[in-house]
Amino acid sequence: MCKPKNGNEKSTDEKTRTENPSTSSVEGANNFAELREATLNDLDEIYAIEKESFPDPYPKPLLKAFLFHPGAYIVAVVDKKVVGYAIGIIRFRSLGHVISIAVRKDFRGKGIGKRLLNELINRLFAMGAKKIRIEVRESNEIAINLYKKMGFVTKEKIFGYYPDGETALVMFIALPQGHRM
Ligand SMILES: CC(C)(COP(=O)(O)OP(=O)(O)OC[C@H]1O[C@@H](n2cnc3c(N)ncnc32)[C@H](O)[C@@H]1OP(=O)(O)O)[C@@H](O)C(=O)NCCC(=O)NCCS
Repeated sequence: MCKPKNGNEKSTDEKTRTENPSTSSVEGANNFAELREATLNDLDEIYAIEKESFPDPYPKPLLKAFLFHPGAYIVAVVDKKVVGYAIGIIRFRSLGHVISIAVRKDFRGKGIGKRLLNELINRLFAMGAKKIRIEVRESNEIAINLYKKMGFVTKEKIFGYYPDGETALVMFIALPQGHRM
């Protein structure tokens, strides 16, 4: 959702992803960060990253609630410090939805976002998602580049999605046909 103004959902057909999600786009990524499941103990650090990353951060109770929602909640850890996180949920049994992804400012550009998103995609597909959706500010070139690189394709725009009136691109990635998780 990254970040929603409302709960708009529209059905959309999207192109099938051609690459294997478990192997694509992570070559050259920095591997020093450990990826693991988020826990309650990580919440303060996740919230700190959230606040420095978004003008309209999610409140801490909402970030906490996602820990108990069906889906995947992953943190990247360096020297026991959380330096990034990614949250995705499963909706309607087969729709993955990326809720948020962010990397601490001083750890950006090191391949951590790419690894987090790759792991999130793989987990959501493994949990039964047939496609995965994400919304992103149309001005957020860095995130859009990342999503395109991972195989996401823009299918819709939602005008005025953000509280400041900015348009959201709605991007999708599909489980490759014939691919079994
Ligand atoms: C988006 C974000 C998670 C990316 O994390 P990151 O760890 O910096 O990204 P990576 O180093 O893994 O880079 C992944 C890809 O993003 C793109 N990217 C990263 N930094 C970029 C930059 N400065 N300019 C343009 N593209 C960039 C590139 O496509 C890059 O792939 P490449 O290195 O193979 O060229 C991070 O910038 C962030 O936290 N932004 C603020 C929060 C946010 O906007 N989240 C998305 C909300 S929908």
